[in-house]
Amino acid sequence: MGIFADKVVIITGGASGIGRALAEELSRRLARLVLVDVNTKLLEEVTDSITKTGGRAKAVTTDVSDFEMVKRLVGDTVAEYGRLDYIFNNAGTAVGGEARDYSYDDWRRVIDVNLYGVVNGVAAAYPIMVKQGFGHIINTASLAGLIPAVGEISYTASKYGVVGLSNALRVEGADLGVKVSVVCPGIIETPIFSTIKFVNCDREKMIRLMPKGIPPEKCARLILCGVERNKATIVVTTLAKFFWLVQRISPGLMLLIWRRGIRKMREARIGD
Ligand SMILES: NC(=O)c1ccc[n+]([C@@H]2O[C@H](COP(=O)([O-])OP(=O)(O)OC[C@H]3O[C@@H](n4cnc5c(N)ncnc54)[C@H](O)[C@@H]3O)[C@@H](O)[C@H]2O)c1
Repeated sequence: MGIFADKVVIITGGASGIGRALAEELSRRLARLVLVDVNTKLLEEVTDSITKTGGRAKAVTTDVSDFEMVKRLVGDTVAEYGRLDYIFNNAGTAVGGEARDYSYDDWRRVIDVNLYGVVNGVAAAYPIMVKQGFGHIINTASLAGLIPAVGEISYTASKYGVVGLSNALRVEGADLGVKVSVVCPGIIETPIFSTIKFVNCDREKMIRLMPKGIPPEKCARLILCGVERNKATIVVTTLAKFFWLVQRISPGLMLLIWRRGIRKMREARIGD
């Protein structure tokens, strides 16, 4: 069953997509799960289906952008189980479209959930893990945290923050027994694209422009493989690895590729 058996694991965004797939895979590997989401109904469906198949999972409705809630979640988990082995700060959202069409809230909401959601998870769990002398924090960023993804700039801003935070924290935590990894997926076929907001552009046309992704179950297995090996940066999908390589070799070339990308995206604009 490997390193996850009997471990206490918090997963945020556990009701859907990558978080749900991580929960199901970790349950098969006998972890004790605390699943967190704002979507209580879906969260309870996931925990019920895990417990019905013999797994150990508990649902805690929490908004990751609210530090007091996250602090309570982590504190209660440690009080109940006596330890915290892993926290997957995975919950996320996005707004598609051009920055010129964003309201202030389209910036704020994405940064609150994606960046502050991770900050809150780290601020609540890291000091406890340092005291324990062990623990592993896994923050979900995106390929958009490694290359400047246009057409979702508030998302890009939040995910660059997550990558920077995670890499620096990995160094601080190393001698204190706390491991830190950052996950950077390319396209994963989850409900996110049908639930997030698109501003002033046609959702279906925007989605058609995206390369084909991989299923969340495969993504979860690749993430766990990276966690087992304590990788600093876990990049998922071959195409994402290719684009990350291009970015490192020639950031200028990447900007040229995006100039083409934004022209294509503008064909999906609804109004001017
Ligand atoms: N799907 C992709 O192609 C892709 C690519 C790169 C990175 N990611 C990242 O992976 C993570 C998971 O995304 P997904 O594709 O599984 O999306 P998803 O929409 O399927 O799942 C995200 C979950 O997060 C929850 N959530 C949103 N805001 C929350 C909040 N404030 N507090 C608690 N829970 C909240 C949602 O209710 C949902 O259940 C996100 O951080 C996302 O940015 C996804």
